[in-house]
Amino acid sequence: MKSVLPRPTELARTWIQQVLREGDVAIDATVGNGHDTLFLAGCVGATGRVIGFDIQQSAIESARNLLRENGAMVSNVDFHCMSHAKMPDVVTSSVRAVMFNLGYLPGADHSLITKVAETIPALLAASSLLSAGGLITIVCYPGHPGGEEEMRAVIEWASNLDSGWQVAKYEKLGTLKLAPVLLGIQKSGGGV
Ligand SMILES: C[S@@+](CC[C@H](N)C(=O)[O-])C[C@H]1O[C@@H](n2cnc3c(N)ncnc32)[C@H](O)[C@@H]1O
Repeated sequence: MKSVLPRPTELARTWIQQVLREGDVAIDATVGNGHDTLFLAGCVGATGRVIGFDIQQSAIESARNLLRENGAMVSNVDFHCMSHAKMPDVVTSSVRAVMFNLGYLPGADHSLITKVAETIPALLAASSLLSAGGLITIVCYPGHPGGEEEMRAVIEWASNLDSGWQVAKYEKLGTLKLAPVLLGIQKSGGGV
């Protein structure tokens, strides 16, 4: 049976697609192997811009290769090998969407994970850069050491946002391993 219930990473893209338009600016807060970067670059097109963050240079190289292999315009993507917590140092314009895919880079050092002390400041920065109607997606992975603590902190932060935000949570139930959780956070106002 083909499941009609998408994986959190797939659903995040479905949500993002509904707010991003050609020419927009979007942030990939955790570039990794670049799958979300490639997706965002496709959404914003030749006149848009994607700003990507990762603390591992190897991840950024891997993402650049993925973009090239797929014929995407690498010149429309600014990669920053730095923590997403430093987002305000390099992003000055407002942005329409920010994707976070937390945890570690598959196939690389599993100790290099996203951490609460960086994730929450990065979410605060992302929320203040977001334009009205814009969307933040966060995929949390509670299954690795530190992942559950991070997920709880992210959910607590999102749950305490004021009425200027809409927040939703999606997760599969009854899974053998702790399933990833997707949060969608949309800023009120603006048109979609
Ligand atoms: C699950 S992977 C991201 C997968 C990616 N979105 C993709 O589509 O391939 C998480 C990434 O977050 C990165 N990371 C960890 N801490 C970070 C931080 N403080 N700022 C930015 N990236 C970070 C890791 O190096 C890793 O590459």
